[in-house]
Amino acid sequence: MAKNGVFMRLDKLVSSQLYGVSRADVKKLCLKKKVSVNGKLMARSDVKVSTEDEIYIDGERLVYKEHIYIMMNKPQGVVCSTKDGGSRTVLELVPEKLRREGLFPAGRLDKDTEGFVLITDDGELSHRMLSPKSHVPKTYFVRLEKPWQESYKDIMAEGMIIEGDNGKEKCLPAEFTGSEDSEFECTLVLHEGKFHQVKRMFGTLGNKVIFLKRTHIGGLALDEKLALGECLEIMHKDVEKLLTC
Ligand code: URA
Repeated sequence: MAKNGVFMRLDKLVSSQLYGVSRADVKKLCLKKKVSVNGKLMARSDVKVSTEDEIYIDGERLVYKEHIYIMMNKPQGVVCSTKDGGSRTVLELVPEKLRREGLFPAGRLDKDTEGFVLITDDGELSHRMLSPKSHVPKTYFVRLEKPWQESYKDIMAEGMIIEGDNGKEKCLPAEFTGSEDSEFECTLVLHEGKFHQVKRMFGTLGNKVIFLKRTHIGGLALDEKLALGECLEIMHKDVEKLLTC
C-alpha cells in the first residue's frame, strides 16, 4: 500500500469517483475479481486503501481525484441548476465519464446566455470564485440591438446604478470595450454577479442585449474548440486560473 495519500475504504473510494457505482456494486466487482490494488486482486471491498494506490477496475486505471472541475460551453435553452424544472439542466449535458455525485454549476448564466460554466463538486473553490469579496472577473461577449456608445466605457468604469426588483443597485466598476469591427459588439468584464447584470446595465443605458456569451472566468478562457453543449475536464494546473483577477 502507498505510504502517502488519504486512507479510506476501497468501496468508498471507488464509489466516490464513479457515477452510479454504489458501495454494494464495488463489493460485487471484488467478488467477480474485477478490482486490483497495486497489482493484487482484491476479494474484499471493506479494506483500507490509499488514494495514491494503483487501482484498476475491470482493467481500467482509476486515478483518484478529490474534486473535478468541468468547463462547459453552455448552449441556449439549458438552465444552470441541479434540478429539472421542465427545462434541461447543464448537469444533464455532462458526459458519463466526467459525472460523479455532488456536481453543481458554480454560478449561473441565464437560460438564453451561452458560454463558460464551471461544473464542479468543490464547494470551497466555488465559494472563493463567487464570493462578492473575491471580485473574480467574468468576461462577456455582447451583441447589442443598437450601436454602442463611447460614453459606455466611462459610465461603466465608474460603477453604474441599475434598477432592479429591490430598487436601485450600485454596480462595481466594470470594463467595457467596444469592438473595432462592429458597432453592435463589445466585451464587458464584471467583478461581481448580480441577477441579469449585463442585460440590466445595457438596459439602463437605453440599449438591449440580443446575444450574450461568457468567454472567461478569472484568467481561464473558454476553449474555442469546445462546441455548444460540450464539456472538458479542467486540468489541475489550470484550476487556480479560475480565481485570478
Ligand atoms: N448577465 C446577464 O444579464 N445574464 C447572464 O447570464 C450573465 C450575466
